Amino acid sequence: MILNASGCLDALEAPEVARALDAFVTKTVTPLAREGNRPVRIAETDAGMLNSIGLENPGIEGLLADKLPRLAGLGVPLWVSVGGFAASDYAELCAALDDRAEVTTIELNLSCPNVEEAPESAAEIVAAARPRTSKPLYAKLSPAATDLPETARAVQAAGADGLSLVNTIKGLALDERTLEPRLGRELGGYSGPALKPIALAAVYQCYRATGLPIVGMGGVSTGRDALEFLAAGAAAVALGTVLFSDPEAPGRVRRELAEELAARGLPQPSDATGLAHASGTVTVA
Ligand SMILES: Cc1cc2nc3c(=O)[nH]c(=O)nc-3n(C[C@H](O)[C@H](O)[C@H](O)COP(=O)(O)O)c2cc1C
Repeated sequence: MILNASGCLDALEAPEVARALDAFVTKTVTPLAREGNRPVRIAETDAGMLNSIGLENPGIEGLLADKLPRLAGLGVPLWVSVGGFAASDYAELCAALDDRAEVTTIELNLSCPNVEEAPESAAEIVAAARPRTSKPLYAKLSPAATDLPETARAVQAAGADGLSLVNTIKGLALDERTLEPRLGRELGGYSGPALKPIALAAVYQCYRATGLPIVGMGGVSTGRDALEFLAAGAAAVALGTVLFSDPEAPGRVRRELAEELAARGLPQPSDATGLAHASGTVTVA
């Protein structure tokens, strides 16, 4: 399964890119519309990208009334990412999405700014959201959690059906000449290739800790990267930063992954899930 990472693809602007995915994940929606942070909001760095978009979104009303029907028209299974500043926000958002047949899965963005990332807090949010919807709930966690496997176990106990790993990690880029922060909001979320080993470790540890299905993301840009995420324990991968430089990435990564699997005699992507944990090794034929 190949998805986009939340916030990294505007499916209505680029429907052909969205149609190449197995499911489209919306940008995180909050109860009220948000304008996002002041510019500059994106800065490229040597091994990745910094962003401080600030959850710009039309709010749940705007999503339901305007965007959701148009997104459903794409014919791609739809995941909605929700975020907020209190457990009650998440509960309200899940309740609002529950009877929308267009939505297959809800991703809880538990790595929003200003939301506490302690294991109890993430678990409290999942516990508040769980009774408000019968849709599958994926908990999206930050790699910066003090004890990520513990957080993963806590959200599992609270009723999460799966994990999305990982969100960005905090970073800073300075202007070469002025030595001032390049982003308007100074610090931003760091994504791209440099995140891959951190994300792989998160997937590897949380797969062991929970056995839950995992969407792996963080610097995936080739089929080889996707294979590594599957081996670490992911059931699916999501493409984020790569989509900004290569909109053809979904089809390309799918082809490359198929080649990687075939070279190892693995019929299905699911046959690669968890291989890094097996005692035996599978090598290229
Ligand atoms: C410009 C931009 C906007 C993002 N917006 C969101 C968002 O709204 N919600 C969310 O959960 N993650 C958001 N993310 C994080 C990505 O979904 C993903 O977790 C992260 O970028 C790591 O994957 P990557 O290295 O492939 O980009 C955003 C990332 C970028 C680069």
